[in-house]
Amino acid sequence: MLHPRKLMTLDEFTIYELRTVPHATGELSGLMRSIGLACKKINSQVNRAGLSDILGALGTENVQGEEVQKLDDIANRTFIDLLNHSIYCAGVGSEENDDIVIFDDPISNNSKYVLLMDPLDGSGNIDVGVSIGTIFSVLKRVTPLGTPVTIEDFLQPGNRIVAAGYVIYGSSTMLIYGTKRGMNGFTLDPTIGEFCLSHPNLKCPDNGKFYSANYGNYLGFSEGVKSYLKACERKTKDNGGPYTERYIGSMVADIHRNLIKGGIFMYPGTMSKPNGKLRLLYECNPMAFIYQVCGGYATNGEMNVLDIQPTELHQRTPLFIGSKNMMAELEEHLKLDL
Ligand code: AHG
Ligand code: MN
Ligand code: MN
Ligand code: MN
Repeated sequence: MLHPRKLMTLDEFTIYELRTVPHATGELSGLMRSIGLACKKINSQVNRAGLSDILGALGTENVQGEEVQKLDDIANRTFIDLLNHSIYCAGVGSEENDDIVIFDDPISNNSKYVLLMDPLDGSGNIDVGVSIGTIFSVLKRVTPLGTPVTIEDFLQPGNRIVAAGYVIYGSSTMLIYGTKRGMNGFTLDPTIGEFCLSHPNLKCPDNGKFYSANYGNYLGFSEGVKSYLKACERKTKDNGGPYTERYIGSMVADIHRNLIKGGIFMYPGTMSKPNGKLRLLYECNPMAFIYQVCGGYATNGEMNVLDIQPTELHQRTPLFIGSKNMMAELEEHLKLDL
């Protein structure tokens, strides 16, 4: 039985998977190598942002109604240019594009995968040097091979995800990605310019002490959410606490910390925005998939996020995601809202 060698690069790991996973065709491995390359290109831009006039806004607004940051646009174009010329992706759904991007050529039309992505997550933090990230998920297309993809290939529930991951451009640059078989972490080694396996077989602790919410929205939260946050504030060492409130404002950074150390993150709906802010297809579903594979869980307050049947590319959903036992306690409080 082949075992992964320590300090395997991402490429070596995808080839290891190819050799050990029955029926693997190499397409997903190839797509992962393209994603890894795109993230390395974005990382080099992120690291020099202050020096090469790529900070600040582009001067346009995206379909979300947000001011597009230059780095949002650079990251988005980096992915689309690279994947358009790969042979493993038939099209992309991106936060930064109103509609799906169809790679309509004979080779791409025969690719069985499509990619959903948030090319640059945490854009509000770009200019102040705080961790930002990229989030992605891979779906198998449902329309016939040989034809251009349609929106139907993207509007699939998260329980149909084949692979998902994120990159955090932080104190180190890390790529977390995996399939239902398991999640693995790869740290970018700048001396060789490769992502190297550093966190094999990631698990999310069943309990944690971090809770993450934007208290600026507190007045709009439901009674159940307020009740849970009060309970978090009152934790002591006698009942699993004391807890620490940590909210960075980059979903990738908050989610990554809570995945590794245990914790709960929430972006609830409010009276004015009942669906909250986070997008189902390229923020909530990939993260929910990753947590579920690692032993955690994600809900919209009523059901498993991964079971939501999407109806629009950019639809939003309330999100609660975290360690299994913390999520169970939250759901007790959310019963107040029924
Ligand atoms: P993006 O930069 O891709 O638009 O995502 C920003 C999201 C997410 O990263 C973060 O958790 C959330 O916005 C923070 O929102 P608030 O500033 O409203 O708390
Ligand atoms: Mn945005
Ligand atoms: Mn985002
Ligand atoms: Mn974004």
